[in-house]
Amino acid sequence: MSIFDGKLDLSVTVASGIEAVTKRELESLGYEPGPAIFGRIGFKGDFSDVARANIFLRTANHVYINLCEFPADTFDALFDGLIGYRFEDVLPENAKFTVDAKSNKSKLYALSAIQKVGKKAIAERLMRAYKTGTLSETGAEYHIEINIVNDVATVCLDTSGEGLHKRGYRPIMGLAPMKETLAAAIVTLSVWNAERPLIDCFCGSGTIPIEAALIAANIAPGVNRNFAFEHFENAPTVADEVRKEAVQRENRDVKVRISGFDIDADSIKTAMCHAEKASVKDLIHFQRTDMRNVSTKNEYGVLISNLPFGERLLTEKELQPLYRDFGKLFKSLPTWSCYAFTSYPDFEKYFGRRADKTRKLYSSQLECVLYQYLGPRPPKRDGKERL
Ligand SMILES: C[S@@+](CC[C@H](N)C(=O)[O-])C[C@H]1O[C@@H](n2cnc3c(N)ncnc32)[C@H](O)[C@@H]1O
Repeated sequence: MSIFDGKLDLSVTVASGIEAVTKRELESLGYEPGPAIFGRIGFKGDFSDVARANIFLRTANHVYINLCEFPADTFDALFDGLIGYRFEDVLPENAKFTVDAKSNKSKLYALSAIQKVGKKAIAERLMRAYKTGTLSETGAEYHIEINIVNDVATVCLDTSGEGLHKRGYRPIMGLAPMKETLAAAIVTLSVWNAERPLIDCFCGSGTIPIEAALIAANIAPGVNRNFAFEHFENAPTVADEVRKEAVQRENRDVKVRISGFDIDADSIKTAMCHAEKASVKDLIHFQRTDMRNVSTKNEYGVLISNLPFGERLLTEKELQPLYRDFGKLFKSLPTWSCYAFTSYPDFEKYFGRRADKTRKLYSSQLECVLYQYLGPRPPKRDGKERL
């Protein structure tokens, strides 16, 4: 029996600020997630759940199998704990393996030293088990993470490979693209749903409209990419079955009103190319235009934008009038809600209104805020409230 058979302790990593969104995603997939601890959420499942989590989750970074856990307040304890685990049940003799480390509230905190001790102990365990003096490391890649919290080490095997933000539709980098996982989290946090119009006035490479369209059409974000777990030796073949399930759940005929505008012609070209790759081109209207010329007769829509950042794209002198004019656009749409994501601390001052709610989020280590302005709810239709 392989360690990949039967019940497994699984975990996902998630960016700071969006833990609750990922937890809700796990719950809606039928799991019972534990609390988020330093950006990691645990849950139980079997190997097909490894595939499901990788293919269906929109906001998590990586999915792991937790291999073992032991107290590790000294390097000796770390070494002994690692060498005591049957890594030969996980890694074949020719495995190419890397070891990474994270530490919080623990005596062992020097990450490169934890990494080195980790690699040494696992290599020694494998050499003893396979009765060899060298490891060729010419085979499939395995990535191990040692995560120490409160002096307890949890050793995790990464099943994702490349981060889950890599959906496979964005090979071209725009001016300042946001991660797909972050865009999906912001759309999920908003009041938007497929019945309401959505406009991103600063769409850049199209990440927010594309993630919204994927959500509306129920297209699983990972359906078109491969994952590390597909190369694990002795693991059951589960990915194709889950991909089939994902395709069956798609609703590509959904009627939506999603638009992306940008002043930069190349960005619009890139966005259209990404939308085509993500197979949601027909669900989004992209157009090169200055935000100042955006208007709509639609009602009860949602503006969601990752605004140009002072540090990265525009000077402060250029940002202030832009934010002011964006505020005027929002004022001209009294039934709309607005979600503005920026690192500029004086956003509300220039936008001209205090946010109803704010949420601190990070974009590539940069601290940003999601300013949330809630418009009126759509009126009831046929006795039911339109959400
Ligand atoms: C932070 S980037 C958006 C990145 C986008 N979320 C993505 O994932 O690629 C901001 C965008 O605002 C656009 N922009 C700047 N001034 C604008 C204006 N006046 N009207 C419309 N777009 C503008 C820039 O061209 C840039 O693409």
